[in-house]
Amino acid sequence: MIGFFDSGVGGLAIFKEVEKLLPSYSYLYLGDNARAPYGFHSPEVIYRFTLQGIRWLFKKGAKLVILACNTASAVALRRIQQEFLPQHFPERRVLGIIIPTAEEVVSLTKSKEIGILATQATVHSFAYPKEIAKLDSSIKTHQQACPLLVPIIEAGELEWEGLELAVKKYVNQLLEKSSKLDVAVLACTHYALIENIFKKFFPSSVAVFSQGPIVAQKLAIYLKAHPEIDSELKKEGERIFYTTEDSWRVRNLFHLFLERKDLDLKKVSLF
Ligand code: DGL
Repeated sequence: MIGFFDSGVGGLAIFKEVEKLLPSYSYLYLGDNARAPYGFHSPEVIYRFTLQGIRWLFKKGAKLVILACNTASAVALRRIQQEFLPQHFPERRVLGIIIPTAEEVVSLTKSKEIGILATQATVHSFAYPKEIAKLDSSIKTHQQACPLLVPIIEAGELEWEGLELAVKKYVNQLLEKSSKLDVAVLACTHYALIENIFKKFFPSSVAVFSQGPIVAQKLAIYLKAHPEIDSELKKEGERIFYTTEDSWRVRNLFHLFLERKDLDLKKVSLF
């Protein structure tokens, strides 16, 4: 099984693109909706929550877990790969989504100025500027934290005019940091769910990227390059969705973003 983990429904934007490209695999998705958003929390708390999610997905049979969450990838991934996996699960893999995204976007900017829209925790980690600089030190990375967006999305308030106002404010703040941006990355998986709103406020000279298609392509390449992992993954087309909160709100969000009738959503306890 391939597992996906996010603080909530943002990772569905990644899952949907992966499923489109690699439909035969069996997938588990876990959203920690009861504790979203993660983006306001300290690195220690984000690490602890993420680890609980990964342990649980491993217990359910995931051999490979995609952290479909920039906040967890930025703050917890390195420690998970360097300390937790070698000690407890040396044969399993946890992959993040920041390096694949950085690899893709560095090749797309001509002006050598990239904008990153992300949670506060991702911005404070400097994961994007660091990874982008490793690939091309001549690129300038401008970051903008958008703390209001995940709470509004997780509340299901997608039609509320305040959402547009908040997106507009954050896009304008990013554009004020540089007049030369030609690439902007929606570097929080929740933002991909409202990509159309972001696109309204960027000028046509700025290409706006969501990570789903990038991560799906890179995962396909990774699985080809690692037949020893690929051969361990079940390919029976299963899709099972788990959440830490079973409420009308959460069911509604999964239905809204997954757009499928036969949704199998189960409640789990991680804590
Ligand atoms: N969707 C997540 C991300 O990509 C987390 C957002 C949050 O929980 O604050 O950063």
